[in-house]
Amino acid sequence: MTVSLVVNGVRHEIDVPPEMPLLWVIRDVIGLTGTKYGCGIAQCGACTVHIDGAATRSCSVPVGSVTGAVTTIEGLGANGDHPVQKAWAEHDVPQCGYCQSGQIMAAAALLKEHPKPTDAEIDAVMTNICRCGTYTRIRTAIKAAAEAI
Ligand code: FES
Ligand code: FES
Repeated sequence: MTVSLVVNGVRHEIDVPPEMPLLWVIRDVIGLTGTKYGCGIAQCGACTVHIDGAATRSCSVPVGSVTGAVTTIEGLGANGDHPVQKAWAEHDVPQCGYCQSGQIMAAAALLKEHPKPTDAEIDAVMTNICRCGTYTRIRTAIKAAAEAI
């Protein structure tokens, strides 16, 4: 089946089964590998992208159900210069880095909903798992990005 999908402003017509997870399409068909596979069951957040601006765990979304525009980490800022990305770099957030594109996408969506998030709002939204335990730096960088936006 041909599926029509807009990713980072580019429309793709792709021949895939509609039940294929969006993450598979992003990584293996379109070739954008910044979005990561962690658990495959919507638990860890490594695969977080935006669909029409909302943070979405792409491992658990059938591509045939996607009607909105998809943004991946590659499309968040023109040159990696989204305020969240800049704050991440400034505060040296990543350790191994594997979870971080998902963290950044979740944080960017959070700041659209809550431009000056409280700790409670950060805790409620930032449920992505980091096995390296970078949570303290993530919180610091989110607050720094909130000041910069
Ligand atoms: S890989 Fe999608 S939530 Fe873990
Ligand atoms: S930086 Fe290693 S899992 Fe988060």
